[in-house]
Amino acid sequence: MTLASEIIVPGDKSITHRALMLAAVAPGESVLRGALSSLDTRSTARMLRGLGVDIGTLTLSRPVTIGGRRQLRAPGSPLNCGNSGTTARLGMGLLAASPFSAEFLGDASLRKRPMRRVTEPLTAMGVTFEPALAEQLPLSMLGGRLSPIRQRLPVSSAQLKSALLLAGLVGEVAVAVQEPDGLSRDHTERMLRALGVAVVDQDGWIELTPGRPIERFEMTIPADPSSAAFLLGAAVIAGRPLSLDRISHNPTRLGFLAVLTRMGAQVQTGFQGESLGEPFGSIAVGSGKLVAARVDATEIPGLIDEIPMLAVVAARAEGTTTFEQVGELRVKESDRLKLIADNLTRLGYRASGEANILRVTGSDHPPVGRVVTSGDHRIAMAFASLGLVKRSRISIEDRACVGVSFPGFYEALRVVKEGR
Ligand code: S3P
Repeated sequence: MTLASEIIVPGDKSITHRALMLAAVAPGESVLRGALSSLDTRSTARMLRGLGVDIGTLTLSRPVTIGGRRQLRAPGSPLNCGNSGTTARLGMGLLAASPFSAEFLGDASLRKRPMRRVTEPLTAMGVTFEPALAEQLPLSMLGGRLSPIRQRLPVSSAQLKSALLLAGLVGEVAVAVQEPDGLSRDHTERMLRALGVAVVDQDGWIELTPGRPIERFEMTIPADPSSAAFLLGAAVIAGRPLSLDRISHNPTRLGFLAVLTRMGAQVQTGFQGESLGEPFGSIAVGSGKLVAARVDATEIPGLIDEIPMLAVVAARAEGTTTFEQVGELRVKESDRLKLIADNLTRLGYRASGEANILRVTGSDHPPVGRVVTSGDHRIAMAFASLGLVKRSRISIEDRACVGVSFPGFYEALRVVKEGR
């Protein structure tokens, strides 16, 4: 039913950030294959180099080596996280036990994003922030001796959860976290477990118990399901079969497949392997008649980055699709809730984002108009995918922003469009 495509989806962004950071504090030389080389992961590599870690060039074609060290070194200049929330938030966790101060900077988008969710629990663990309990970047932090923490998180967020787990790892203290609604991606837990750290799920609490330090490792990083999602969504919109290989099969990342299935797409997965606790395999889609779906609050953490893509598929489905409790979309790389609704409206669809519920009503008309991205990679990719509708005329502002997570996206989308 499906066509094996010539597309190679780049490495997973979340896993690449984590693999680089874990390798940075694992003494010896670690080797990563298939790491993502994009603006965001290069921000993490740059941050780690600033902390004295020796990291080879991040390229798709060659494995990257990381010379990890037991103690990170005080940075000689501020750590510029660019557009990357994961670099900033996980970076603060990674530095929580280092007895030196470090300044975190970000671009205009990252400077607007909430940091108190991380600075508050890290302060409770013993980190000093300047300004105290900083709400946003820029901020400075001074790490040191940490205390254990048991914390119910204010939001289900993998970045927040991971920042605390990394602090527990480097500070050698117990950390327990509980997420309020739905489980966010669990890469940090899986990778730590595969490296021999005691991380258990105890009655909905994720608990890390300190043990011996981690050692150097090798890993093959699966391809990014969040990047693949745009191509799979585009194929569904275009009514073409598509099959992609070596995509992460981590269940906390595949929530979008259940929604595509409910919307009438045919979806098939095939297991292909596992590396450092992370499974990967093929994902194939075939199209069917598309119908609206309801996506409830507990599903949101498992498909948070795929909502822009699901919203454009919903624009082609019969009926009104609702995504409930999607307020977190307002604090991503842009206010995604507003941009999705506004752009769909501009292209001639009925869509709204009030009271943290996104509603999209499908229509057969060809979308025509200009898409405002605010430099948000996932908004650009979602609406470029909608451009596979016949007779559409969509122009995308700041197209190049896709380089944050998926360099080569437009070439891959062309392959889907031409059915190669
Ligand atoms: C990420 C977690 C999510 C996600 C982001 C990557 C991660 O953010 O949206 O793209 O790698 O941990 P939140 O933790 O803010 O939900």
